[in-house]
Amino acid sequence: MKSLDALISAAVDHLAATRNAVALTGAGISIESGIPAFRGKGGLWERFDPMEIAHIDALVRDPARVWKLLVKDLKEIMDRAAPNDGHKGLARLEQLGILQTVITQNVDGLHQMAGNTDVIEFHGSFAWQRCMQCGRRVETRAVDASVLPPRCACGGVLRPDAVFFGEMIPPMALWRSQETTAACEVMLVVGTSAIVQPAASMPLIAKENGAVVIEINPEATPLTGVVSDILIPGKAGDIMNRILAQLENAR
Ligand code: OAD
Repeated sequence: MKSLDALISAAVDHLAATRNAVALTGAGISIESGIPAFRGKGGLWERFDPMEIAHIDALVRDPARVWKLLVKDLKEIMDRAAPNDGHKGLARLEQLGILQTVITQNVDGLHQMAGNTDVIEFHGSFAWQRCMQCGRRVETRAVDASVLPPRCACGGVLRPDAVFFGEMIPPMALWRSQETTAACEVMLVVGTSAIVQPAASMPLIAKENGAVVIEINPEATPLTGVVSDILIPGKAGDIMNRILAQLENAR
């Protein structure tokens, strides 16, 4: 088995040789910003059944319950969250002309806050709420969550502008993700368990089109050894710092 240093050096070689890398990120990259992931120890789905709380039918049936159990807490956490070294590293890769696009399953807006300019929000965004009646959008930070569910001026219920289970991926996000993925030379897959479709098929599309696929994750995923060429085991912040240190040194 290769050492961590050897794996990082291999990733650096691939990144240094391209100007068209794309990243696919998941909840793991935001854990170091204090936002819980979905699966695994401490994950949201350890406490809740996603079909009971994050399915569109649950939201329509009882929005107050979904707000009380899930959305209110997430709002409080995300209102305060800031990018960590993982997000900052991806922003630096863009500045260096290596990374073109971030496709994220996260709804926390931290990639944009870190400085990435082309971020595809595959599962929508938590930064905005949408009225279920008139469609008006309101910034989540400005929403008063003292009475649940919060309502729009028209009386309709506000819901996160994010994708719930049972809903479609925003068509433009899906289309652009497939296009950028098919065209990239290196795909960095950071902090995702790679089991929720169709996001999890992006690395496969990259691979089929000749890209090198590099995972950064403390754990192996279904992609590991099958689709990904390299798994760098570790936390996103630490590994991105090491990758950047080597890349900047080589410049
Ligand atoms: P998951 O919670 O399924 O997976 C998080 C991944 O991050 C796991 O593979 C962990 O091993 C890894 N991880 C943990 N700590 C890490 C760290 N410090 N650095 C890097 N990786 C770390 O999250 P997602 O794959 O994003 O969808 O989940 C995909 C989708 O499932 C979400 O977008 C959400 C959820 O249900 C919807 O809500 C529609």
